[in-house]
Amino acid sequence: MLSRISKFTLKKNKSKIICLTAYSKNIAEEIDKYTDMILVGDSLGSVLYNYKTTRKVTLQMMIEHAKSVRLGIKKSLMIVDMPYKTYRNKYEALRNCKKIMKESKCDGVKLEGGIKLKKIIQYLVKNKIPVMGHIGIMPQTVRGKFRVKGKSKKEKNEIFRDAKTLENIGAFAIVLECVENKLSREITNNIKIPTIGIGSSYYCDGQILVTDDILGLTQSKIRFVKRYIDIKSHIRKGVKQYKKEVLTKKYPSKKYWY
Ligand code: KIV
Repeated sequence: MLSRISKFTLKKNKSKIICLTAYSKNIAEEIDKYTDMILVGDSLGSVLYNYKTTRKVTLQMMIEHAKSVRLGIKKSLMIVDMPYKTYRNKYEALRNCKKIMKESKCDGVKLEGGIKLKKIIQYLVKNKIPVMGHIGIMPQTVRGKFRVKGKSKKEKNEIFRDAKTLENIGAFAIVLECVENKLSREITNNIKIPTIGIGSSYYCDGQILVTDDILGLTQSKIRFVKRYIDIKSHIRKGVKQYKKEVLTKKYPSKKYWY
């Protein structure tokens, strides 16, 4: 029987792969019906905890959020981000990946980096850890403003080489973040594993966004973020009505008490 990871990679060239983030059971439960993969992203550091970067996110935070997300997923692949400084060498990486996988029961992990992580990812794959790569903009190490990656020839060659390396060492998919559109097409057409774009054009095999951004729970101004619904206005409406009913003793009526 095909593993869940193999089923995911086989989606390449069949239909677009739908990916989103989740940090809790309730969101995971709703998006799972529509997604192929749910990522417990370390973006939770900025989205939920107001951290300036993802660097303050700890392994334990990822495990706790991932455990909650696990409860909401029935069908999608569940991948968890390895936070900053949890994979500085292959032994540290394997120990921490095993811990995350065992405690959260996720299907695999995501690490930021290409050729620089060659030995580490090779070691993880050898030890049966499914690894998703992440290149282009890498939020754990980015300095300054987010900007498109792969415009200059040098950067283009480096990113292409990173993607090829990840494919060759056994990563099962790669996130391309803010990679210039023609380069994302070239990478997608020249590797056998799926590319998942974020700000990297529709040439990628799939797309990922932060769910809180598409629901309008954040005020993100990043160019690639499209807001599909203003969920906050629904929250306000419901809470306002609740307040009104408590004040006027409309709630709780007999139906709601014992
Ligand atoms: O941390 C995250 O949420 C991510 C994705 C948005 C790709 O890495």
